[in-house]
Amino acid sequence: MISKATIDKIFSTIRVEEIIGEYVQLKRAGSNFKGLSPFHEEKTASFVVSPSKQIWKDFSSGKGGTAISFLMEIESFTYPEALRYAAKKYGIEIEEDRRELTEDERQSQTDKELLYKIHDIANDFFQEQLFGTEEGKSIAYAYFKERELRDEIIRKFRLGYAPEQRDAFTEFALEKGYSKEILEKAGLSIFPENTPRGVDRFRERVIFPIHSFSGRVVGFGARILKNNVKTAKYLNSPETEIYHKSQILYGLNQSKQSISKNNLCLLVEGYMDVIALHQAGIENVVSSSGTALTVEQIKLIKRLTENVTILFDGDAAGIKASFRSIDMLLSEAMNIRILLFPDGDDPDSFARKHPQDYVEDFIKNEAKDFIGFKAEILLKEAGNDPVKKAESIRDIVKSVAYVQNALKQEVYLKEVSNKFGLSEQSLFNELNVQKQLQKQQISPQQRQMPQAEAKLQKVPEVTETIDPLFMLEEKLVELMLKYGDRVLDRTDEENNAYQITVIEEIIAHLQEDDYEIQSAINRKIIGEIQKGIADNELRAGQFFMTLLDENISVKVADALVNEHETSDWAKHQIFFSSEEEVVPKIVQDVIFRHKREYVLKIINAMKAQLSENENNDETYLKIIRLNHLRKELDGKLFRIL
Ligand code: GTP
Ligand code: MN
Repeated sequence: MISKATIDKIFSTIRVEEIIGEYVQLKRAGSNFKGLSPFHEEKTASFVVSPSKQIWKDFSSGKGGTAISFLMEIESFTYPEALRYAAKKYGIEIEEDRRELTEDERQSQTDKELLYKIHDIANDFFQEQLFGTEEGKSIAYAYFKERELRDEIIRKFRLGYAPEQRDAFTEFALEKGYSKEILEKAGLSIFPENTPRGVDRFRERVIFPIHSFSGRVVGFGARILKNNVKTAKYLNSPETEIYHKSQILYGLNQSKQSISKNNLCLLVEGYMDVIALHQAGIENVVSSSGTALTVEQIKLIKRLTENVTILFDGDAAGIKASFRSIDMLLSEAMNIRILLFPDGDDPDSFARKHPQDYVEDFIKNEAKDFIGFKAEILLKEAGNDPVKKAESIRDIVKSVAYVQNALKQEVYLKEVSNKFGLSEQSLFNELNVQKQLQKQQISPQQRQMPQAEAKLQKVPEVTETIDPLFMLEEKLVELMLKYGDRVLDRTDEENNAYQITVIEEIIAHLQEDDYEIQSAINRKIIGEIQKGIADNELRAGQFFMTLLDENISVKVADALVNEHETSDWAKHQIFFSSEEEVVPKIVQDVIFRHKREYVLKIINAMKAQLSENENNDETYLKIIRLNHLRKELDGKLFRIL
């Protein structure tokens, strides 16, 4: 865990405009910067960065937050990942807070750090072998050249070479002080029982480092140099504490920005396909590298886009794999298209044969939706056999049953109906049968454990349909976050002047009425504020910004972003020159409104409880009293306005 002191340091050092400036071209606009949203295609700039408040807001998507939440959004980092990334960029040393870790956790954390480190060392070693040794140059570098890879792309993917000598890397690492245990754990060395020395896992192979989402090397793929050798073409790192195959997509780190910019992810089969497409200028591409696509991998893509085009070479194995992937992608609510390359071409060979424009157009124009794709493959197989033909149609409807949206399902069924000249009703019946069948199976989602969602949760927009009491609760919290430490000049009933902070006034109101906070996140924030009061510490916006809680920091950032006044306040017929100026009034107003709504809620609850058979005098009295209170509040509210 990153220590609180480090988090504070990070937040006080980093500059939102500098961090965002690396992704978005920002132009000055008054005290703010403006630019084109990196999350949406747009022509007029609706993306605002405020250096003074250290926040950003994207009006096209409604997202907003701090520099850290921006990194979370654009790089799909988790909160700690984003913090570490920012710390590295600004040269801030991370102080780990280990007090809460158990002995086991501490051990596993140091192991993990060592594993990352040894992979870095190994990757440097393999690169040095490739570029800096005779063997590497004459064998591996020559091999890459034969495959027409340019130097810059070899460097970009940090490709390398593992030499012929049995223990070249193992000896190198042992000499550097790494233990046998960690080398074995990393899957880089093997220490057979009755031999004195260790052996490298990867020998005489070109090396493809596999990166995590945030760009750390977590494993390797290694390819033989000659195609006719009998051993496996590729050898990969085993599963380790830092390398979980089902959760990694090859190329994602190098491609994520392009995927999100193009709002499309190309999915290919091999390492070389990813690299060749990058070299051809097509950078929104990942590969599941020989393993079947998993739900976790789809979720990784989904952080960046919901659109996937599967690029498969036309061999039977590839097509079968694509069928499975199609259903998985559909059940994760992705939009998919499929492209089959002609005459034994794969994306790699195709991209080398044709110019970039041609490849891009080819992908755009030739990719089919899954119905067209499956129909083409299956019907070719079925020929004129009516039984096989019916089976093919059933197979297609099965995929439609995986589609997550009823409206889309209907559109697809229409397409099937048109294509095969079948009635929609019979297809619809078949669809329902398939759905029933799928329900009985374990759904793909249940099979895999869910990944922590790093995407920011969009704060629900305030509309008239939302419970007004809840809306006012939100506003109270927002006011505390925004202006918590502002001191208000008040007078009490006997006309004595006193001063009170926004936080104290609002907390006092909530306690006085024993109001039960509705949302969990507000409860948490208010709990922290109360703890602060007990410690004589005013906890407002910046305090929460650095709490290790994504949801809270997003909420705080959202509160600090401007323009709220013009949206929800205008809707409620409250017009002020600017919120800042009238904080004392607003706080009072919101408290009264909140109180009034709360009273109304209690009155309504009581009315609902009134029963005809009992003597309800007491309840009636209470209701009358509460109604008085409500009228009083109405009067006060009227005076404020
Ligand atoms: P090239 O033959 O160099 O063009 O490789 P490629 O990247 O195009 O691979 P290919 O299309 O043959 O296979 C797709 C992916 O499957 C590869 O990138 C590997 O990740 C994986 N793969 C292929 N062969 C093997 C193998 O023998 N063993 C293992 N474990 N994985 C393999
Ligand atoms: Mn290939």
